[in-house]
Amino acid sequence: MKSFIDNYCFKKNYLRIILKIVFGELPYQVILNELDIDAPKNYYSIADFGSGTGYYTLKFLSEKFCRIAYALDINGDYLDELVISAQNNDTSHKLEIIETDLIERTKLKNESIDIALCCFLFSEIADKNKKDVLQNILQSVAVNGKCFITDFINCKTIRKFGITYPLEITEFKKNLAIIKNIVILREIVSKYTYSFVIQKNA
Ligand SMILES: C[S@@+](CC[C@H](N)C(=O)[O-])C[C@H]1O[C@@H](n2cnc3c(N)ncnc32)[C@H](O)[C@@H]1O
Repeated sequence: MKSFIDNYCFKKNYLRIILKIVFGELPYQVILNELDIDAPKNYYSIADFGSGTGYYTLKFLSEKFCRIAYALDINGDYLDELVISAQNNDTSHKLEIIETDLIERTKLKNESIDIALCCFLFSEIADKNKKDVLQNILQSVAVNGKCFITDFINCKTIRKFGITYPLEITEFKKNLAIIKNIVILREIVSKYTYSFVIQKNA
């Protein structure tokens, strides 16, 4: 079941509907509203952490308010696929790909990102490493920048689907509490997913 989710739901955009219906993934428009994007007044640097083949990166790339989108993933093949998709959409001039292990580093400049996305990344990160990944990601977020995190909740159904490291919400919040200069603006619970909107303060 896990390989069905990995190889189809996350890679074939037309099957994304399964994540929405079965697991309660938030629609893209809801994510945009939560991030309170002030378009067309502002232009934003966006980073999609654990971008995979770029379901979200491609959506943001096509927005006028997107000045640049960084896609970061440990899997170079996914990033290569994303480059081809961006070329097909005529948006590759705004795309930077970064092959990196986010447990180690992001390779981004500190405080350079206005919008950070972490969609279904943390359920692939072992619990003992989640704190380091959070630190690395939030270090790259600029003051007043926002970070949107969404992922599977640890519950019986999600474990049955074979999701490796779903979010233990209490533990995840403890990891967030250690990070300086951030505030959780919103928490959104849907069927089997949990989302955070986080803001970086000075
Ligand atoms: C379930 S996919 C989600 C992809 C995309 N965010 C989406 O919502 O369609 C998780 C992604 O995180 C990447 N990933 C897992 N561990 C990682 C790590 N340590 N560093 C960077 N990327 C990682 C995987 O390669 C995979 O592409």
